[in-house]
Amino acid sequence: MQTKNYLIITTLLITLEYSVSVQATTSTIISKVENLIAQMTLEEKVGQMTQVDFKIISRDGTLDATNSIDPIKLEDAVLKHHVGSIMNSPTTPDNQAQTVGKWRELQQAIQAVAARSRLKIPVLYGIDAVHGATYTKNATLFPQAINMAATFNPDLSFKAGEITARELRASSLQWNFSPVMDIGRQPLWPRLWETYGEDVHLSTVMGQRFIQGHQGTDFSAADKGLTCLKHYVGYSLPFNGKDRTPAYISERMLREYFLPTFAAGIKAGAPTVMVNSAEVDGIPGHANYHFLTTILRDELGFKGFTVSDWEDIKRLYTRDKLAVSEKEAVKIAVMAGVDMSMVPFDFSFYDLLLELVKNGEVPVARIDEAVTRILTVKYEAGLFTATKPPISIEGNFATTYATTTNRQAAHESIILAKNDHQVLPLKKDASILVTGPTANLLSVMNGGWTITWQGDSEALYPKVKLTVLSALQQQSTGKITYVGGVNFNDSIDIARVVAEAEHHDYILLSLGEKPYAELPGNISSLALEPSQQALADAVLTTGKPVILLTFGGRPRIITSIAEKAAAVVLGFLPGMEGGVAVADILYGNHNPDAKLPITYPRDTNDIVHYDYKPIEVFEQNTVNPLYFFGHGLSYTTFETSHLQVDKISMGAQDTITVTVDVKNTGSFAGKETVLVYVNDVAASVSRPNKQLKAFKKVALEPGETKHLSFTLEPDDLSFIGVDLKRIVEPGDFIVMVGNERVKFTVTR
Ligand code: BGC
Repeated sequence: MQTKNYLIITTLLITLEYSVSVQATTSTIISKVENLIAQMTLEEKVGQMTQVDFKIISRDGTLDATNSIDPIKLEDAVLKHHVGSIMNSPTTPDNQAQTVGKWRELQQAIQAVAARSRLKIPVLYGIDAVHGATYTKNATLFPQAINMAATFNPDLSFKAGEITARELRASSLQWNFSPVMDIGRQPLWPRLWETYGEDVHLSTVMGQRFIQGHQGTDFSAADKGLTCLKHYVGYSLPFNGKDRTPAYISERMLREYFLPTFAAGIKAGAPTVMVNSAEVDGIPGHANYHFLTTILRDELGFKGFTVSDWEDIKRLYTRDKLAVSEKEAVKIAVMAGVDMSMVPFDFSFYDLLLELVKNGEVPVARIDEAVTRILTVKYEAGLFTATKPPISIEGNFATTYATTTNRQAAHESIILAKNDHQVLPLKKDASILVTGPTANLLSVMNGGWTITWQGDSEALYPKVKLTVLSALQQQSTGKITYVGGVNFNDSIDIARVVAEAEHHDYILLSLGEKPYAELPGNISSLALEPSQQALADAVLTTGKPVILLTFGGRPRIITSIAEKAAAVVLGFLPGMEGGVAVADILYGNHNPDAKLPITYPRDTNDIVHYDYKPIEVFEQNTVNPLYFFGHGLSYTTFETSHLQVDKISMGAQDTITVTVDVKNTGSFAGKETVLVYVNDVAASVSRPNKQLKAFKKVALEPGETKHLSFTLEPDDLSFIGVDLKRIVEPGDFIVMVGNERVKFTVTR
């Protein structure tokens, strides 16, 4: 390794950069908030920091089919306890989705009581709308984030944000607990699919565009809503893969992989941040002053408010044993920098925080700080002026435009991983035997946070949407036979599948996972369920070409099947239009153009990433996944050529322009994503073999060539140095696109 001079990109520069495009708080809002705070009692202030679940205000507090509000309980929450926020879907079984009309009614009732409060402070209502308006019946439900990432199409992420906000606003909801800005580098984790995958640059771009679409330049606009970056920070790398278990992330790794997406989300203007529900290096997210205050506020310049995750302040006592009482837990969390507590089922936070302030254990200044942040966001969101649903349902909810956009997103999110001898696309009159547990269900294509929290109530899914089987039946002019169960866990008659195979040209084997969210999705191995493996082994002995299709939120191990299958289509969670999108791909109505946003493991314990370190391929070490990040085939072929840089030597503060030609060399029109990777040849901290720094997706007719240009900024060449500061070190760098590599040097 050569000795180098470090060029430090100062923290100050980063802070300034991150704060420029955040919606600026006007002096009018600042003085309105100051004025309000001056009039507030301590009780009113602490109430603003309290968030409760709908259950607290619902009629019987448990299962209420009409989902009605109990006016006495609502008054207790809003007028007596002054709560600043309410959340979640009404407590019908499993928190089901409500009609758009019901939501408007509920919100109006809540805001009407808030308008009767002494200072008329509106309630901010929060909801998980993670792939569209989850909890509004018949909302447009997009591919989940892992699929949105697979589109490599930031415009689609922007549109998904726009449509989600519009449908939330039509439902009179304001605040979306989305996007997840965690990086998905632990494939066992049952929330992998909520992330934009393993790469920092891809996640940054997709997340930022989602926020920009959702919020616009002014989130008080009638059709815009607030976003919430979650789960800050380091939640997504549990060592054992189970949800809400410890992560061990060094500060260098945190800064390299896990902080940049949050910094980007803040830069894009997200006004709220939800806290990591687990722990990093022994410190629970809700107790981490260094993360919540030193880094988030002082370094990243975040001006909005932080909200705890579900019950997590209490859990500092009940689960983490960090506090000796619930009261101490409240003190630790508030002093660490948590501004609002998702309590969510009682007023304990309110009572305990009041006591703590009265006893002098939590300074009033800290309360004023948190409440100022909360009220500022409420003003910025236009809540003080909007008392009834601002936009009409007609023209804003489940429109044809929304469905068409959703269909495009589903098309662009399904990955063709293998296509031996161009077995795909199939002719419309091909006879296909369809089998496997995921072929005839909508829930397996949508995953968690769909209509219900777990997303597994198939009976509640809209009847008009098509499963893979029904979409194939609709498009086929040949014979489609289905041998499968009605539910995911039904056993499939393998002998019948094998016997039927003889009468068909192809077998579509549809495997994968049933839906899940959070802890219920924990598994201890990525291995496929034995019953699915047995079905696969049997169909592979028939000699018929097998098309393997998979759905689910994680890369379950399919190596032995994929090796023998003629084609492999990775569906992950493509949403409500997934069935049609798969049929369109199988029949060639859509030429596949998705790429993997994660590296697909070959074996259960062989978890690797595309940006591996040199040591991972040294001597006996190998990196040999089933498919790398960025892999994805098309029915046509593309070639990149003439890779060039505009200078071969540059200063560390300069930008460099990379150009490359991309040509459609096959016979179908299609889209290709050109990926630009960079490698720092030698550095004072070991660097990945390559890292994605830019990408562009372009449409090309057969024979057409496009000339693409990319600008790399100093930040794209930087890394977290020995002293934990972001630096660019002089030395050689290599830009890689396709099979070409070009070197340039940073001189000073
Ligand atoms: C999840 C969050 C979610 C919250 C509210 C928690 O269990 O971790 O992602 O926003 O619940 O539903």
